Amino acid sequence: MDTAPLLTVDHLSIAFGSHRAVKDISFHINAGETLGLVGESGSGKSATSLAMLRLLPPSAQITGNISFSGESLLALSPEAIRRHRGRNLAMIFQEPMTALNPVMPIGAQIAEAVLAHHPQVARKALKEKVIEAMRQVALPDPEHRFGDYPHQFSGGQRQRILIAMAIVNQPRLLIADEPTTALDVTVQAQILKLLKDLQVRHQLAMLFISHDLAVVAQVANRVAVMHHGQIVEQGPAQALFHSPQHIHQEAAGLCPNHADRSPAASG
Ligand SMILES: Nc1ncnc2c1ncn2[C@@H]1O[C@H](COP(=O)(O)OP(=O)(O)O)[C@@H](O)[C@H]1O
Ligand SMILES: [Mg+2]
Repeated sequence: MDTAPLLTVDHLSIAFGSHRAVKDISFHINAGETLGLVGESGSGKSATSLAMLRLLPPSAQITGNISFSGESLLALSPEAIRRHRGRNLAMIFQEPMTALNPVMPIGAQIAEAVLAHHPQVARKALKEKVIEAMRQVALPDPEHRFGDYPHQFSGGQRQRILIAMAIVNQPRLLIADEPTTALDVTVQAQILKLLKDLQVRHQLAMLFISHDLAVVAQVANRVAVMHHGQIVEQGPAQALFHSPQHIHQEAAGLCPNHADRSPAASG
């Protein structure tokens, strides 16, 4: 059924021992839609996204249901979830330097992402895929720079490399966990614009996670607000940005001096 959401999180709870990090949350993401997940540090955003990819440590107790394209992710075998990861569901993390291998050329790292799911791909086609992915994320001079190492790129370019790795297999859902938090404001705006362009161009669905509502409001169609492990508010991005009901303003980065920042500014 085409009208069913691509991803449904249903009564998800996550506990680490006696600490209940995520408490009975439910949300969905439609195909091609960006859901923003916003909340202060420690509110359970990363735990939620890691549960979707089954990357939480075995000690985490998870209840509820996560369904992707009708398939229950929590019930899949480790082998089956590996096939999804980086293929249908891809993730980009906050810290580009720690997520990249410093001693491997960036082209080889993007190629690894392809080979993980298409081990039989021919050398020439592989190189073309890598260069095309670099072009998609507007890295400079892909033909000449795929042999360069991470330290030869700027922070913003390194985040572009990670985005290239995430999109090279044309996933249906991209999870971006604080993808711009480590970057300065100008570069942050460029990366947000890139994600938005990719989302439209590839009909990507996206879960965009940030502690900063002003950032989330720039990319998300809808926003869910997390607080102490619960979703306390959900709604269209614009409406929420202009009259948040539950957000602890300081914690969510919505300081008074940000209040007049237009969420559609970079549109
Ligand atoms: N692997 C873990 N073991 C124990 N506690 C964890 C683990 N991961 C996260 N937590 C705890 O769960 C809560 C939510 O963390 P997290 O999802 O990382 O928050 P956020 O991403 O919103 O900042 C925090 O209290 C954190 O300390
Ligand atoms: Mg986090």
